Amino acid sequence: MKRKAVYPGTFDPPTNGHVDIIERGSKVFDKLLVAVAVNPHKKTLFSPDERVTMLKEIVQSYDNIDVVSFSGLLVDFMVSAKADVIVRGLRAISDFEYEFQMAHLNKKLLPEIDTIFMMTGEKFFYVSSNIVKEIASLGGEVNELVDKCVEVKLREAFSKR
Ligand code: PNS
Repeated sequence: MKRKAVYPGTFDPPTNGHVDIIERGSKVFDKLLVAVAVNPHKKTLFSPDERVTMLKEIVQSYDNIDVVSFSGLLVDFMVSAKADVIVRGLRAISDFEYEFQMAHLNKKLLPEIDTIFMMTGEKFFYVSSNIVKEIASLGGEVNELVDKCVEVKLREAFSKR
């Protein structure tokens, strides 16, 4: 049986921590769908299309990874994507409470699905989209934290302000 998993997130912007989970997830599952959440109530630096484009560029050399966007409930997207596993990365203890809550609520909404956590590689424990945006907004170097295409987009976004 082919296993298809979904790696959902806001990815505003994608960091090397996300890329680590994407690469490792693509080895564990036959197909990995990276799903960019579109939430009109959440203020993001990059539009859904920009986030999808950056992720597509990052994963272009992988045959078994697709990047899409979704709006509404993740569990509804899981049904339409015919996937039953959610992949999430776990950094330090601070991620746990939020992830625990989401995994349980998603399971309550759709008992057939499971959430699988991958420990973020130790190099990426401290990397988050928010920290990356803060550093970039203040003119700091983010080349070790994000892909080149993201670095360029960040520079563009903050030079316009
Ligand atoms: O990268 P993030 O912001 O931690 O990702 C959170 C995300 C997008 C996975 C979560 O907010 C989500 O699943 N949103 C879709 C709406 C939904 O299903 N909410 C209920 C989750 S229990």
